[in-house]
Amino acid sequence: MNIIGGPASQLLAGRVCESSGSNLLISEFRKFPDGELYTRIIDDIGEDVTIIQSTVTDTDLVALLQLIDACSEASQVNVVIPYMGYARQDKRFKSGEPITARALARTIKADNVFTINIHDQSILDSFDAKTVNLDATPMIGKYIKTMKFHDPLIIAPDDGAIGIAKSASEDLGIDYDYLDKTRLSGESVSIQPKNLKVKGRDVIIIDDIISTGGTIAETIPLLRKQGAHEVFAACVHPVLSNNAILKLFKAGVKGIIATDTIDKGVSVVSVAPVIAMAINEI
Ligand code: R5P
Repeated sequence: MNIIGGPASQLLAGRVCESSGSNLLISEFRKFPDGELYTRIIDDIGEDVTIIQSTVTDTDLVALLQLIDACSEASQVNVVIPYMGYARQDKRFKSGEPITARALARTIKADNVFTINIHDQSILDSFDAKTVNLDATPMIGKYIKTMKFHDPLIIAPDDGAIGIAKSASEDLGIDYDYLDKTRLSGESVSIQPKNLKVKGRDVIIIDDIISTGGTIAETIPLLRKQGAHEVFAACVHPVLSNNAILKLFKAGVKGIIATDTIDKGVSVVSVAPVIAMAINEI
């Protein structure tokens, strides 16, 4: 299998080649004078190819479409989108809005498409391909297990993320729970774990995405107030837009744990083995 690493996922593509024993192709990415993207796969594309490219920015999506088109002579083209941008725009929230995740998925044509902890599984139906959504949260759980946390508790910031907290803690003997938000009055909201107490424990708040950091930042002081020992933030996709990191540390986070679906300084857990296993099974 030949692997093409798009501009947003070069390190991850290299790691996938290491894990899977595949062959990494060299490509060139640069800008034309007007800012448009020039993409060229320099090595021989061959028959079976897997393109790995997160679509963090709009330009990343253009690069992915260019790479797919460049591979149109190959007999099998697989696409791995470790982080799919716009995946949170998966519904029409107001009339007149597009379902952007669907619109983008429809442009991506391949034999197989792999995503990782995509925001909503329903997006997969819009791809013109066989699709698999891979789960990277057990890798995060294993990393947490190796850290010397004090009586760790993995917590989802809301009931929507409870599946992630469960999957990260499964088989590791670590407790998990989710934060339950109750509005007490116009001004005050109580946020606390649904079933467990945090007193004296290290708490790891886990979500699929940390974007502005707002969801997690608002809960850290509350957990500390309830007696949590240290509070950590974990996610699959470290979007970390604008001043998210500053916000989290200002709120009292002890550390941030994320995967390399987006390559950031906090990407300490690699999803490469998960991707390698999936592509080796095609
Ligand atoms: C929302 O549905 C997601 O699961 C995350 O909770 C959200 O994207 C986090 O965003 P932020 O970091 O901006 O609060």
